[in-house]
Amino acid sequence: MSFDRLAPHYERLESIIFGEDLQRIRCVNMETFLEAESILLLGDGDGRFLKALLDSGSTAKIIWVDSSKKMLKLAESLTKDLGHNVCFICSKIEDFDVPDSFVPDVIGAHFFLDCFSEDEILVILSRISGWSKEHTKLVVSDFSIPKKRGLTTFITKLLIWKMILFFRIFAGISAHELPKIGQLLSKMRYRCLKKETLRNGFICSWVWQL
Ligand SMILES: C[S@@+](CC[C@H](N)C(=O)[O-])C[C@H]1O[C@@H](n2cnc3c(N)ncnc32)[C@H](O)[C@@H]1O
Repeated sequence: MSFDRLAPHYERLESIIFGEDLQRIRCVNMETFLEAESILLLGDGDGRFLKALLDSGSTAKIIWVDSSKKMLKLAESLTKDLGHNVCFICSKIEDFDVPDSFVPDVIGAHFFLDCFSEDEILVILSRISGWSKEHTKLVVSDFSIPKKRGLTTFITKLLIWKMILFFRIFAGISAHELPKIGQLLSKMRYRCLKKETLRNGFICSWVWQL
């Protein structure tokens, strides 16, 4: 899987389909991030969330991890005047381990888990659990298919299907369908502390804790 090819176009593609909504949902739980002294950002992409976090006044130690070199370059250049406390790491999450001295207060995963199959997500979640302490919060932003039936749900499913196909072709993601992230987190014994949604529940941000 590589987002290198898409990285320079990612923001534009996103804004054509979603306008500002994905960035709004990434930032909707900003308070949780601002309370943290140490933050781990997983698959964080082109740096727009990181910039918003630093612009909001975060002084936390931040470890930023993404497997795409191009995404890392974009994130570094977007935050070069702000990111004194940021350690950028180019690595697959599967190969990454947090340093022993680093206990994240908050772990952020915005539109990251939906790249994977449900079995892979369970493995990733058990890694995340291993890096977490009792107080650690996990903020996840992602898509969710609303339970209601009807035309809107049909259109939502069609859009999801097209997005997954697009990312399978151009980034090689392994997801074949939208993973049921909420259910997987509950299965791993995470408790949902907070949930915010946009577009009738299609775009979500959850705060979870073990
Ligand atoms: C769909 S993009 C989301 C980017 C960003 N978090 C956002 O909110 O738009 C998924 C990101 O996860 C990264 N990624 C994909 N697989 C990864 C892996 N195995 N380990 C770490 N990062 C990965 C990609 O390079 C990409 O930046």
